[in-house]
Amino acid sequence: MADRHDEVHVDRNLALELVRVTEAAALAASRWMGKGDKNAADGAAVEAMRKAFDTVAISGTVVIGEGEMDEAPMLYIGEKVGLYARAGGGTEVDIAVDPLEGTTLTAKGGPNAMAVVALAQKGGFLHAPDIYMEKIAVGPGLPEGVVHMDAGVEENLRNLAKAKGRDVSDLVVCLLDRDRHKEIVKRCRAAGARIMMISDGDVSGVVAVSQPEAGVDIYMGSGGAPEGVLAAAALRCIGGQMQGKLLFENEEQVARARQMGIDDPNRIYGLEDMARGEVMFAATGVTTGPMLKGVRHFGTGAVTHSIVMRSKTGTVRYVEGHHNFALKPSAFRA
Ligand code: FBP
Repeated sequence: MADRHDEVHVDRNLALELVRVTEAAALAASRWMGKGDKNAADGAAVEAMRKAFDTVAISGTVVIGEGEMDEAPMLYIGEKVGLYARAGGGTEVDIAVDPLEGTTLTAKGGPNAMAVVALAQKGGFLHAPDIYMEKIAVGPGLPEGVVHMDAGVEENLRNLAKAKGRDVSDLVVCLLDRDRHKEIVKRCRAAGARIMMISDGDVSGVVAVSQPEAGVDIYMGSGGAPEGVLAAAALRCIGGQMQGKLLFENEEQVARARQMGIDDPNRIYGLEDMARGEVMFAATGVTTGPMLKGVRHFGTGAVTHSIVMRSKTGTVRYVEGHHNFALKPSAFRA
């Protein structure tokens, strides 16, 4: 039976419009590469992304954003964005943004910072609060449920290795290099698996499971819940399995989440629970990493490298943008 998500069509050209938005944010943030000021880098990305959204033919509502209205002047949760946001009309969509995924990476000039946007039909995204989420993800083409958050590390590795026809020692586990992951690391090593620790940026960490060239078999561990929803949007397009569980630290967070519509604090969310219906995902590299090249400046312009994908067709496009600052509208210049 068709649900309302099947009935409302999202123009496929919007996916390419989203690239303009992530390009603008990446161009702006890239000016702050290595300058040691992560807030300035983030602020530049947010402002540029906000302006770029004004040109996109949507009536969008930010559901994953920079925080609440009182803590974030732009791209806050609930903010209306898009050409039709104020005037009315246009396709009503929900928007998830991380204008600069990897603020510290950018400030240090480290690898793999990027600007990220996802779009879904109204009600398509989990309204995840800005707390931690436990995540587990594997790539496409594996039996449904081959790994599960409730299973132990060893069992998941054994089942994954079996499903892939390999040994556990062949597997690579990606996770954030954090003290809170010491136990997972210990258990992975004891089981014989190999490990790829990343210093930041778990959107691309999760997406890596679905990019064979990245050499990652499974993602484990906790990171930001908003980043979890963005990664789920990407996996909905590119294929793969993912589960997420919100990690509440106190009753206040539970109460806050209830207000955002989360009734069961112990629920394990699947991909479709986090990013449902027709979904689009776009990201542009700020600094170079395994997924995307960073912005390269050359005086009068710059080159950007982006990925854009749609769940409806599963098409994944890489877009190389050559920007001429003399001709570009000011909203899109860096
Ligand atoms: P920022 O871009 O906000 O700095 O986030 C980077 C990041 O590494 C995310 O990719 C990840 O989900 C989160 O931080 C992990 O949080 P923490 O650094 O507290 O472990």
